[in-house]
Amino acid sequence: MQKTAAVILAAGKGTRMKSKLPKILHTVCNKPMIERVLNSVANAEIERSIVVVGFEGDKIKTALADKKFESMQFEFADQTEQLGTGHAVMQTENALKNFDGTVLILCGDTPLLKSETLKKFVAEHNSKNSSASVMTMEIPNPTGYGRIIRSADGSFEKIVEEKDADDEQKKIHEVNSGIYCFDSKKLFDALKKITNDNVQKEYYLPDTLEILKSEGEKISCVTIENPDETRGINSRQQLTDAEKIMYRWKIDELMDSGVTISDPNSTFIDPEVEIGMDTIILPNAFIEGNSKIGEDCIIGPFVQIQNAVVENSVKMGPFVHLRPGTVIKNQVKIGNFVEVKNSVIGIGSKLPHLQYIGDTDMGSNVNVGCGTVTCNYDGKKKYRTTIGDDVFIGCNTNLVAPVEIENGAYLAAGGTITKNVPSKNLAIARSRQINFDNWVDKRDQ
Ligand code: UD1
Ligand code: CA
Repeated sequence: MQKTAAVILAAGKGTRMKSKLPKILHTVCNKPMIERVLNSVANAEIERSIVVVGFEGDKIKTALADKKFESMQFEFADQTEQLGTGHAVMQTENALKNFDGTVLILCGDTPLLKSETLKKFVAEHNSKNSSASVMTMEIPNPTGYGRIIRSADGSFEKIVEEKDADDEQKKIHEVNSGIYCFDSKKLFDALKKITNDNVQKEYYLPDTLEILKSEGEKISCVTIENPDETRGINSRQQLTDAEKIMYRWKIDELMDSGVTISDPNSTFIDPEVEIGMDTIILPNAFIEGNSKIGEDCIIGPFVQIQNAVVENSVKMGPFVHLRPGTVIKNQVKIGNFVEVKNSVIGIGSKLPHLQYIGDTDMGSNVNVGCGTVTCNYDGKKKYRTTIGDDVFIGCNTNLVAPVEIENGAYLAAGGTITKNVPSKNLAIARSRQINFDNWVDKRDQ
């Protein structure tokens, strides 16, 4: 099989984002767009990627420093001056000098690209034995894109950038998506021949295609089925639009697999999330990161779940916030205004209203009274609370961690529990009530 290396262009400034953050570090569905691109490349079974960085390159390198993308190796090439897409690719020549195979080129700002699409594109390029292939798309409004110029017989002739195009060329709706495959040797030979003799005074990567064509090499155009995938992000509007599409794809995928989503317009589920059959997601749900939800759950309305696991037949909402590291076991009920962080809630336990449970290991069938708070932080360190099975926690209880409540214990309402409670004990940790006889009349005398 032909070896493939990817080159990801990400040196541009992203001026239209009007941001202190480099464009490709902006998140789409809670993941920086460059990570989404690298994930797609890695899942397309590409062994190696080179990310070309320039503007704020150090920030990008730091942000990606300890990230993993399957078994794909990735490295950076620096483009200190942004002299065009062709010039950007030239910066990878050294890294690829011993590489002989297919070079897949794409941009860091197209987070919607699916790995299957990349895989198909590379396979088609290789099977046709093309020297270069360009992924094209037919779109209603081609403004801003390079137009694909074909000769009378329909074969590829060249790409003309919007700014260099004449009125006739501007009418063409088939455009360059900015994604290419090249034979590595031919790519770098052709790059040496491009000039910056154009309106933008840039070294255009697409010019290599015209050069190869004139040398008798085979150039293929592969039209993408769904042009949404190649949407580039240049502005905040396009960022929101891309995010909307990605959320909608996820919702459709979940519905196809048997999840009910009552209002797709107010439901935000990240692509990595897994949800089981016959679970119902009510409006205003935010389910993020690598969260997993089992079958037969009712989630919402107004729920935020971040990198948490929810098992089967759990009822949750309204207004629940599950923070990272939380595991909610089967048949748990969580109700109004409850926050759970980095905790395990055992089978069938109930947290019906107004609780904060943090850094806690809770057993099964625990009844947690309204207003219970685990006091897990002393201003310097975090401590864990351990609660056994069948514990009853009265309303308005503070559990000052580290503390352990053993199986079957009862905590009377209003207690501030600072000491461990043995199994089946009753703990009362509040001052005794005193009633003053006739107090009101005496005060008024
Ligand atoms: C480019 C294509 C155009 C295509 C469009 C698809 C060229 C000349 N034109 O246009 O045919 O329709 O993409 O989106 O290639 N970059 C660098 N270094 C540079 C310049 C750019 O790394 O010196 C990176 C940018 O960060 C960006 C990508 O290359 O990720 C594309 O550059 P951009 O200037 O946005 O190209 P377009 O004008 O959109
Ligand atoms: Ca662009």
